[in-house]
Amino acid sequence: MPENKNPHFNDIITQSLSRRNFVQVSLAVGAAFSMSPGNALAKGISPSKIGFTSVAENLVNDVIVPEGYEWHKLMSWGDALFTNQAPAKEQVGAPFNFTRDEQTKRVGTCNDMFAVFAKNYSYPWSDKAQNEYIVCSNNEYVVPYLLVAAKKGNFAPTPQEIEAMYAAQGVTIACVNHDTKTGAWELVQVEDKEGALNRRITPFTEVVFDGPAKEHEWIKTSGMITNQIEKYAGKLPKNPDGIMCGTMQNCAGGYTPWGTYLTAEENIDNMYFTTSPNCENIENARKQAGYVYDEASFGYGNLWKWGGPDQFDLSRNPFGPSLYGWIVEIDPHDPSWTPRKHTALGRKKNESANSVITKSGNVAIYTGDDQANEFVYKFISKNKFDAKNRTANRELLSEGTLYAAKFNVDGSGEWLEISLEKANAVPLSGNQTPFKDYADLMVRVRDAASRLGATPMDRPEDVEAPKDNYFKGFGTVYICATGNLTEEGRKGNAANPRRKNGATTEVNYTGQIIRINEAAKDHGSTTFNWEIFLMGGDHSKEIALLERPSDKKGETHNLSSWVNGKQISMGDRFAMPDNITFDGFGNAWFTTDGTPENFPCNDGIYVADTNSPAPRVVKRFLTGPIGCEITGPFVSEDNKTFFCGLQHIGGADEVGNGYRAKQAVPFSTFPNKTWPRDTIIYVRRKDGGIVGT
Ligand code: FEO
Ligand code: CA
Repeated sequence: MPENKNPHFNDIITQSLSRRNFVQVSLAVGAAFSMSPGNALAKGISPSKIGFTSVAENLVNDVIVPEGYEWHKLMSWGDALFTNQAPAKEQVGAPFNFTRDEQTKRVGTCNDMFAVFAKNYSYPWSDKAQNEYIVCSNNEYVVPYLLVAAKKGNFAPTPQEIEAMYAAQGVTIACVNHDTKTGAWELVQVEDKEGALNRRITPFTEVVFDGPAKEHEWIKTSGMITNQIEKYAGKLPKNPDGIMCGTMQNCAGGYTPWGTYLTAEENIDNMYFTTSPNCENIENARKQAGYVYDEASFGYGNLWKWGGPDQFDLSRNPFGPSLYGWIVEIDPHDPSWTPRKHTALGRKKNESANSVITKSGNVAIYTGDDQANEFVYKFISKNKFDAKNRTANRELLSEGTLYAAKFNVDGSGEWLEISLEKANAVPLSGNQTPFKDYADLMVRVRDAASRLGATPMDRPEDVEAPKDNYFKGFGTVYICATGNLTEEGRKGNAANPRRKNGATTEVNYTGQIIRINEAAKDHGSTTFNWEIFLMGGDHSKEIALLERPSDKKGETHNLSSWVNGKQISMGDRFAMPDNITFDGFGNAWFTTDGTPENFPCNDGIYVADTNSPAPRVVKRFLTGPIGCEITGPFVSEDNKTFFCGLQHIGGADEVGNGYRAKQAVPFSTFPNKTWPRDTIIYVRRKDGGIVGT
């Protein structure tokens, strides 16, 4: 990487300001320079520090970054994790067709959440670039047609090929080297042996449950069935309470002060099927009102049409879905520690699990339940973080209090405690039944939050709080509500506003980002104020009647980003914000999943200053290949590398129509013009400077 001959003005300001130093400076001058009540990091740094030239709207089938930047591949689907493996052999016009065992030793598909851990853990987290890291990446799901070749135009995967599709999901953990001189990052293969740091966690890996629902009848029953089925495949748990159900549908997540990774199980319904929809097993399960509610709420009936391993057959294992929908903790540093499913955080379509230390030293975890009209949650651990005993903290998420967010019309809000007593004090309506115990409450937590009056949201995806290297937050929390296309959501509410189109109220096509300001800037608070931080859509005017590329010609919708007559966002338009992260200077970096359905532009990365007042400038930093979603944004601790995932590459066209193997070639063949491979990339300034400046 060439030397920086002409340092950018902002580099002069920031080059000696590490993330930690910056925060210390900020706190010292914060009160005097505070520019808006929602300030996160802030203060003393010019608000014009976002200095790159925006990427223009485009439908280019490649990664586009601003002038002066370059991007590189870090890892792609199928990359070998171990030294004894051959490189995955790419072919033009055909996928790898891995077996389950092979896929279990290679990088998975559809990368989402991504996090980087210094191999040498220290607290506070270091902000100096290091040479050795461990990275974790979620492998959310599969596009079947991209994993297995159609035979003479006929897509008919074998049971073995389907099993491999399950194994492509979960989490990839890999060592990565970073050359601090050139700025390069590289996946490191390791020896394939017991205790290797590189590994995959798949839907077949052993996990243990902890917390209130550990002994829940549904979990016990389905765990036993799963273990019996896996036993036939020769896989046995090592722990007496181990369940061979691993994790799947891993969307966003988080990382903890103690250096563990949190992965959020989202669309768990996706992988269930029924060979006999009304068999005795299912009918018996449906005699429980709770099961009927659960089945409808999660929608797990026969969505995965290819069939698969027996444990995912509802007619064989009707309570199987209770094994998923949790926040799962993995220790990248310690492969001997069995991944934990923390039932105290509630079962839902979890998107994120962002951790921050409260003023009293407890740990708050924010999660979003990404389904239309579901809720935002906060968990607060019963016990306090112990900076001196890293591994003891792995117990923190097993016990605590769970809250759901209520957003009031006047801009105030409260965290509603989800306790057995409070949930059962609400009068029952319809088919509702009381919650039997705390285990039942956590398994059916959506029902509890709804009864307690939590605010239905426009699909809450990432819920993230900026924080310093001590994981101390600033009281601000950002919620990416990606949109709401349901009729039920057409009404909206104050935090999820609606636009008018003549006499019609629009559904929420373009989403918004809400900012919470916790009372007393304490993440342990139970009250807050909130505001709309950014609104997706067209920023030019209050009524922006536009054709959506994914709709019929001539059909227009009001896609304005204005709220109640006010302009909230300006600069580059975007739609459907999804994942969000923060650099050390108070800039929010967020991804989109659904821009091309609304505007003629591939999904991308957008940057906005959290310290500026509305209307806030949004700048487009990156766009991905056609049809892919951008995920897992992460800014390195030294602020010089930006990472993101390119998910389901080739799986959709420029307006979101899915690839169904009807065409010989998917919609993109990124990155190597052979067959699409989901890829994590990193972006740097060519002069090695701070990204975003
Ligand atoms: Fe997997 Fe909510 O996105
Ligand atoms: Ca997402």
